[in-house]
Amino acid sequence: VAGLVQDAVTWYAGAARDLPWRRPGVSPYAVLVSEVMLQQTPVGRVAPAYDAWLARWPTLPELAAAPSGEAVRQWGRLGYPRRALRLHAAAVACVERHAGEVPAAVAELEALPGVGRYTARAVAAFAHGVRVPVVDVNVRRVVARAVEGVAEGPAAVGVADLALVEALLPDGPAGAAAPLASVALMELGALVCTARAPRCPTCPVRAHCAWQRAGAPVSLGASRRGQGYAGTDRQVRGRLLAVLRGAEGAVPAEVLDAVWDEPAQRARALAGLLADGLAVALPGGYSLPA
Ligand code: ADE
Repeated sequence: VAGLVQDAVTWYAGAARDLPWRRPGVSPYAVLVSEVMLQQTPVGRVAPAYDAWLARWPTLPELAAAPSGEAVRQWGRLGYPRRALRLHAAAVACVERHAGEVPAAVAELEALPGVGRYTARAVAAFAHGVRVPVVDVNVRRVVARAVEGVAEGPAAVGVADLALVEALLPDGPAGAAAPLASVALMELGALVCTARAPRCPTCPVRAHCAWQRAGAPVSLGASRRGQGYAGTDRQVRGRLLAVLRGAEGAVPAEVLDAVWDEPAQRARALAGLLADGLAVALPGGYSLPA
C-alpha cells in the first residue's frame, strides 16, 4: 500500500470539491455542524443548509442559547430531524462542560449527543488536526478494495476497521497530514471509488489497488438498495413537521389531520414526533418544542 495515500492526496489537491466546510478558517463548531448534517444527507443538500445555519447561529454559544424548537425549525427539510435536537443538545453540553468550545479529544466528543464514532473522529481530525482514523462508508470501501481486494466494505464500520485505516495515515503529531489523508480517501470514495459504478480507468490509486489486481471481482451484495421514502412513516413525520415549522403558535389537530389521509399512520407518526421530543402537545394543538 506504499504510495496509496500519497497518490490520493496528490489527486485530492486538484480534484477536491470546493465545499464550504473545507475552506480555511472554518471553526470547530462549523465543522461539527457540517458533520452532523452530512451523517445522513448528501453534500449537495447540506451545503445551503449549512450556510443558512451558520448565518443564523455563527457561534456555538448562540446556538446553545436558542430554544431547541428553533433548531428543529432551522433544520428545515434536511431529514432525520432528531439530529437538530442532538446538535442543539451538543452545543448546550459544550457550553456546560467545555467553556463553549468544541473539544478535541475523541472521548469527550463521543460523549456529546449525536456524536458517534465517525463524527467524533471527523471533528477531532478536521477541526483540530488530531491524527485519528476517520472512517465513513466511503473510506471503508476504498480500503476494502485497494488494501483488502474485495468489492465492498462491511455493512457497519467496526473498531478493527479503525485500526486498518489508522495504519495508513501519515505519522507524526497533530497537524495537517493525517486529516488531509483522511479527507482525500473520503473524496476518492465519493467521486471515483463509488459503490455501484467505480471509475477505475481514471482512478489515481489504481496502481496500488488489490481489487484491480484481482480482476475487480463483484461481490453478491453489490446491488443493495436504499430504503424507499414515499408512503413511509418518515414521509408522514416530514409532512407533520413541515406544518409545525411553518407555524408560530399551536397548530390545531384538525390542521395536522389534513396532511395525511390514513388516520392510523398519521397518529403513529405524530406519536413518534412527540416521543422524540420534536413536537409537544399544547392546549390548542401541537408545536415545536420551546
Ligand atoms: N469533508 C469532511 N467531512 C466530509 C463528509 N462527511 N462528507 C463530505 N465531505 C466531507
